[in-house]
Amino acid sequence: MGINIDILLQNRKKKLFKDLKDNSLMILYSGNAIPISEDQYYDFSVNRNFYYLTNLDLKDVFYVVHKIKGNEYKEYLFLKECNDKVKKKFYGLEYTMACVLRDTKLSKNNIYITNEFNNKLSDLLNKYKIKEVYTDFKTNSLILNILNEIKFNGENNDIYKLIINLRNIKDQYEISCLKKAVIPTYNAFMNMPDIIKNSNYEYEVLNAFNCQMLNGGDRHLGFATIVASGINTMLLHYPKSESRLDRNTLLLCDAGASFKNYSCDVSRTFPISGKFSEKQKIIYDIVEKCNEYIISLVKPGITLEYLQECTIKYLSDECLKNKLINTRNELKKVYYHHVSHHIGLDVHDPCFNKILEPGNVISVEPGLYFRKLKIGVRIEDTILVTKNGSMNLTKSIPKKSNDIESMFLKIKY
Ligand code: GLY
Ligand code: MN
Repeated sequence: MGINIDILLQNRKKKLFKDLKDNSLMILYSGNAIPISEDQYYDFSVNRNFYYLTNLDLKDVFYVVHKIKGNEYKEYLFLKECNDKVKKKFYGLEYTMACVLRDTKLSKNNIYITNEFNNKLSDLLNKYKIKEVYTDFKTNSLILNILNEIKFNGENNDIYKLIINLRNIKDQYEISCLKKAVIPTYNAFMNMPDIIKNSNYEYEVLNAFNCQMLNGGDRHLGFATIVASGINTMLLHYPKSESRLDRNTLLLCDAGASFKNYSCDVSRTFPISGKFSEKQKIIYDIVEKCNEYIISLVKPGITLEYLQECTIKYLSDECLKNKLINTRNELKKVYYHHVSHHIGLDVHDPCFNKILEPGNVISVEPGLYFRKLKIGVRIEDTILVTKNGSMNLTKSIPKKSNDIESMFLKIKY
């Protein structure tokens, strides 16, 4: 049986609206594309809280809910109409009423095509004598400005935390989207030995890898892919990818495709020559075993802080044993990030609840970074917390050192 997204959307809304006061208004905005300088725009990315409640990936739309009483509520969408004839010739209509009606269960009577949102909002507030409004303080300064402009003098409450609490527990549909985001990510990582073989610079790897990831997912990536080689592997979010590949070093790739705006998050580290040196293999295997050990600890009831403590203990034990550090305290010089974060509509999904619950999706990403050796290794998987433990959504992407080397042997490097 297929997943009914409309029923799941109803459930999300029911849970959220029960926490709103009677006779209140919730207002969310989908966001807009930011102009670069003239007539080009940065890629539009929909406001995730708006999208979570509407499933509409559209620019410049207001979503308004009047919580009347108890379970009774009325929803409105306000779409912007393009009146500019020249623009229409260049871009067509960004969306039509027909496509919005197809993607939402709202009736036509609740959808306004209007450029007079301020007046309509003012009418609603006055007509129902509304004194309580909910907006997303974190991301929607535009709505706060509009409320000021129309001189709303009631109370303005922040809805951010309530929506984020819902977003933390992924439903069936969200899990299926995350699984679909893994497919192009897997394909791209499986091609990495071939891509490395045919590249001389980091940016060549980056472009070929991204091209693979954009095949089968959304038309945008989950986040900007990190491709770092040699000494650049020390930088956690190395943004440049402009160095020449040194065949004696490692290449670290941290990436995730997106599907319906759900992003997975995977890191793998490759020997550029196709074979790990002795030192590289020792360090690689410590990180890989740590990744597996930490994944085995994931279950409801534990915290990300606990996972971090276990990572520090494991890595410092192993680094001491292999004489990579001299004291436990030295670990912070070679491991300097957190092992886990929540994942979802944002690759670093916000979360207020410290204790893991079934339906949470998190990363597990230990790493070790030795500057003098030019050896930086991070191995990361996307993990779903289940009732009894966890499920590794990115398990199919090879990570054992032997398996990584075998991938290179297959392409006759
Ligand atoms: N994927 C990048 C990070 O988690 O920091
Ligand atoms: Mn991550």
